Amino acid sequence: MKRRNFLKATGATALTAITTGQVAARSSFFGNKKSNTSNPEYRILGTGKHSLRVSALGLGCMGMSYHRSFIPNKKEMIFLIQKAVEAGVNLFDTAEVYGPCTNEELVGEALAPLRKDIFICTKFGFDIQNGNTTGMNSKPEHIRKMVEQSLKRLKTDVIDLLYQHRQDPAVPVEEVAGTVKELINEGKVRNFGLSAVNAETIRKAYSVQPLTAIQSEYSLITRDPEKEVLNVCGELGIGFVPYSPLSRGYLSGFINERTKFNPDNDNRPTLPRYTPEAIIANWAAIDVLTEFGNQRGLTAAQVALAWLLAQKTWIVPIPGTTKPAHLQENLWAADFEFTPDELKNITEAVSNIPITGERYSR
Ligand SMILES: NC(=O)c1ccc[n+]([C@@H]2O[C@H](COP(=O)([O-])OP(=O)(O)OC[C@H]3O[C@@H](n4cnc5c(N)ncnc54)[C@H](OP(=O)(O)O)[C@@H]3O)[C@@H](O)[C@H]2O)c1
Repeated sequence: MKRRNFLKATGATALTAITTGQVAARSSFFGNKKSNTSNPEYRILGTGKHSLRVSALGLGCMGMSYHRSFIPNKKEMIFLIQKAVEAGVNLFDTAEVYGPCTNEELVGEALAPLRKDIFICTKFGFDIQNGNTTGMNSKPEHIRKMVEQSLKRLKTDVIDLLYQHRQDPAVPVEEVAGTVKELINEGKVRNFGLSAVNAETIRKAYSVQPLTAIQSEYSLITRDPEKEVLNVCGELGIGFVPYSPLSRGYLSGFINERTKFNPDNDNRPTLPRYTPEAIIANWAAIDVLTEFGNQRGLTAAQVALAWLLAQKTWIVPIPGTTKPAHLQENLWAADFEFTPDELKNITEAVSNIPITGERYSR
C-alpha cells in the first residue's frame, strides 16, 4: 500500500508538471536546461495526417510477457502501464508475436479504461500455429485476419500504428503497404510503420502509403540506422522509434557476466552480445555512461536514453521495463539535455570502443 501511495504521489507530480509546462523548471535540477522548444516533452512521429504527437519516450511492453526471462504478476503490469499513462506516456508498443498474443491482451486490458488520447502500436508479420511462431506471413488475407484478432485482444476498434514486424520474402512490401492502406481507409488502422528494414524498402512502401514511423534497434552500441535509415526518415518526414534502446538492459549496467537468463523465455542467451565474454568485453561502454552520469546525477540508463533523444527531434525510444522505479528513472532522462561538447565527447568515447558480439545470431 505504501509503495502505491508513493507512486501515486510521484506519478501525479509528473503529470502536473507535464500539463502545466513545469518540466523545464524541473530539468534545471539536472544542470542543463531544456530551452529549445516550448513543449520539450512531446515529439511528432510522421507528417501531416499521418503524424502522431507522442510523449518523448514511449513504453515497450514486450518484456512484461515475453523474452525478458520472468513474467511478472499481471495485475502489477496493468498497474505499471496505467502509471505510465498517469505520468504522461501516450505511446505503447506491443506485437502479436509477444507471448504470442498474451502481451496484446495485457496492453488491451490495461489501456481500455484510459483509451482516449493514448496511441497503441502493434505489429504483424509472423505465422503463429498453436502458440508457436512458424515463419513469416504478410499475405494480405493473413494481415487482415491478424488485425481483426489484434483489435479484439487490444479491446479497441482502431490500431493507432500498425507495423510490419519483419519482412516476408514472399510478399513485396508494396503489397503489404497496399493492404494496410485499405485497412486505414476502412478505419481499422490509423497509421503504418515498418520494423527492421533498409532504406530501399522504406521508399518502396512509402510510395504506396506514407509511413508514420520506422522501428529498429538503435542505441549507443547499435548504430546501424545511422548508415542510411535515419537519413531517409529525415528526408521523407518519417519518425524513428528505437527498440531495445538500452540494448536489452545492458546499457543500464544491471546485466553482468553472472546474470542468469531463463532460456525458455529470453532471447538474450541466443544472442552473441550477451555471452559472459561479450558482457565483460563491452563493459568499457558502461564505464563511459557511469562516469558521465556520476557528475550529473544521472544513471547509466538515463544517459543512454538522453543520448538517443539528442540525435533527432523525431526519435522516440521505447524502453521496456517491469519496474515502476525504472519507468520513472527512464522518463526523467527526457529532462536532460547535452551541451554540444558533451554530446560530441560521449559519442566519440563510446564509438572508440570496439563492440564484441553481434546483436543477432546469423
Ligand atoms: N520491432 C522489434 O523487432 C522489436 C524487438 C525488440 C523489442 N521491441 C520493442 O522494444 C521494447 C524495448 O526493447 P527491449 O525490452 O528489447 O530492450 P530495452 O528497452 O533496451 O531493455 C529492457 C530491459 O532493460 C531493463 N531496464 C529498463 N530500464 C531500466 C533501468 N532504468 N535500470 C535497469 N534496468 C532497466 C528491463 O528490466 P526491468 O524490467 O527489470 O526494468 C528490461 O530487461 C520492447 O518492449 C518492444 O516493445 C521491438
